[in-house]
Formats: sequence, C-alpha cells, structure tokens
Amino acid sequence: MAIPHEFTAESIAQASVDAFRPYNDFLQSGEPYVSIYLNNQWLTPPKDDAELEWGKGWYYDTTVARKHEYWKDIDLPRPTKDITVMRQNLFDWGYCLIEDGMSQEQCARLRARIEEQAAAERALGIAYLVKSQQHVWSLVNKGDDFVKCLEHDPEGVQAGPIIERLLDETLGIGWNHFSFLSNISYPNCHPQPMHQDQTFIAPYNPREAPVLLNTMYVLQDVNEVNGGTLFIPGSHKPNGTGGPYALYGPMPKPINLEAKAGTILMFDGRLLHGGAVNHSDKFRYVITNSCVKSFIRQQENFLLTMSPEVLAKASDKLLWRLGFQSSITANLVEGYGYQGSGKMGDSNGSVAHVRHEMDQGEYRHVGALSPDDVTKISSDEFALARIQKANESFRTPELLEKMRLLS
Ligand SMILES: [Fe+2]
Repeated sequence: MAIPHEFTAESIAQASVDAFRPYNDFLQSGEPYVSIYLNNQWLTPPKDDAELEWGKGWYYDTTVARKHEYWKDIDLPRPTKDITVMRQNLFDWGYCLIEDGMSQEQCARLRARIEEQAAAERALGIAYLVKSQQHVWSLVNKGDDFVKCLEHDPEGVQAGPIIERLLDETLGIGWNHFSFLSNISYPNCHPQPMHQDQTFIAPYNPREAPVLLNTMYVLQDVNEVNGGTLFIPGSHKPNGTGGPYALYGPMPKPINLEAKAGTILMFDGRLLHGGAVNHSDKFRYVITNSCVKSFIRQQENFLLTMSPEVLAKASDKLLWRLGFQSSITANLVEGYGYQGSGKMGDSNGSVAHVRHEMDQGEYRHVGALSPDDVTKISSDEFALARIQKANESFRTPELLEKMRLLS
C-alpha cells in the first residue's frame, strides 16, 4: 500500500532538523536535578558498590539539627499537637512533626506487625531489598491497622483527623493514596540519593503547591545513629537564579530526622530528602504513605493489588482513596464509569464491581461485534451488561428504547 511520502519516517526525520520545537529545551532540561547537582556536588550519591566515605562532606555524613553546625541555632519545626503550627511549618519549611500522632499502643502494634511481616518476606525470599532499604509494599493487605491508617481512623492513628485535614488543604479534596509501604533501613545500608517524592513530574516543579504530600509514621526513636531520614529544611522552595530552568542554587546541608516513636512527619513532595545510613546493629522501621492529586497515576496499582478479602470489607472511604471511583476522566472500564461522579460511594462508577466480577473468573470483555452477533449473543453474557444493570441508574427504559430506535 502506497502511503504519502510526507508520512514516511525518512521524510519526518528530514523535516525535523532544526525545526520549531518549543517545549524541547524544557523537557530536556533535566531540572530540578541538573541545578541541584551542579550547585551542590556534595549531594552526588555513592555508587552501589562504593565504600561510603566519612569526613569529606558528603550529604549522608551528617547529624541531627541540634548538633549540626549550620542548623543548630535555627528555629526549625518541633513536634506539636497544634494544627495551626503544623500548617505554618509545612508552608515555611516543607515539613511538620505531629507529636504523639500515634499513641504508644498504636505505634507498638504497627511496629510489631511490620517486624513480623518484613522478617517473613525475607525468609520466603520475596522481600524487596535494595542497597538502602527493605521495602514492604501493599500494606493494605497486610493488617487491619494499616487499613485504619489509610482511612485516618483515630482507632488506628489518633492524629488521623489532623492528617486528613492537612491533606485536604494541601492537595484539595479528592486526593488519592499513591503508596503505603514500610521503609526499613538495615545495619550499614547505603543512603538513598536525595530526591523529591514528586520526581515523577520532573522537569515540572510547581511553585504554587505540591502535588504530593507524604506522611511518615515513625515507629521507634530515630536519630543520626539508626538512620533518621535525611532532609534539607526549606528545600521545597527553589532558591536558584540565573535562568528559566536553573531552579536550585547552593543549599545548606541536610540533617537527620530526630523524633520519638509515635511521631508523625508530614512532608511536601518537593522537599529534598533521602533514606539515611543506619549505623546501629538493628533494623530501623518507619512507614510512609504518599498521597497525590487524583490525576496522577498511583505508584501502587491498588485496583489490582487489593486482595478479594480486603475488598469484600472495604469501606467507601478506602475504595475512594485507593482509586476505585471512576469518573469521566479516570479509570473507565469498557466505558463503565464515564458518568460516574468520582465521589465517595457513587455506585455508578465503582471499579469494585468490576473487580468482583473478575475475581469470580467469569469476566467476558466486549470485543469486535458484527450485525450477526446481535442475533446470537445475549448482552447478559458480558460482565459489562451485568454491571450496567446493577449500577448505572441512568440506564432507564426510555434510554434503552432510544438506543433501539437509533439502531
Ligand atoms: Fe522519598
């Protein structure tokens, strides 16, 4: 088949030499990391097989704020129960600390569950172990207390209502969970490279507001010895000058998080941070729950991850936050959900109905159809039709009659 010459790869390549490409410089800018590394070479991460170096000023060779040469006299956020202070700290410094965000009992329960789960996953050889941490993913399936955290139920996390409020104010109502996992630093692990948790949108680096907010559950006392998370206070605000994409100039060096068991750290998706070296001989346990604007693809595919057992008892709130509510622009399944509101509890667009059908193993998709098929197939054979009948309240007899008349 002859296609017009202009549509050939050769012709397109020829017409693209020195062409008008207005977004190219921005997309290829490598920001924010190009300016971060150019102006702060001490942030360069160690190679995986390299020995860590001490006394040379690398980012991971640091301590807690009160012992840090640069930060010790600066009034940084302290643990508080006052939401007014938290709001200001989040805006000014990119993080806040919730004092006793978990009760000691809640904290102990979560930690015991994580310790047991992490050890079992290592023993079975299914753990996710990287140079800096062990990650225990899909906590949604690994204990009722984790589900309560995802719902911000005070039974599971006593500061839940405050966390929920700060998420609503920072991301706008209708945010989604992005991931919920445990980050376990093991003895003598490598540090993580310093990063923004919302790196997935780079080189976009919105100054107006973050698209991600992370909630870290501190399950034991953390400090400079056992790998209190590294972060640079205030680094959520670009400080660079000298060009449209030169976002970051020289920055102060990071500190280790110092916090008591039960503290909850909330931090802006633009804050530079990373897992620290654990100098102790024991594991260090925290849990992180990133939440994002709902237009962002989730790191954990909860639609596939959630077990049928957890799905069977999931609350509307949990389903909503995990992305199970489809709407005109998100998560349609064969068209189902196009007229969903995307709001909590809207049956007309709940992907949970699709998952139930799929879990039963009888989901038949609508494929290519011909006029012949219409006489041979009953619509009831399709899962879509069953879901439509049960949930799409707009599918009235009048609408069905209109379809018939148009066909
Ligand atoms: Fe991170």
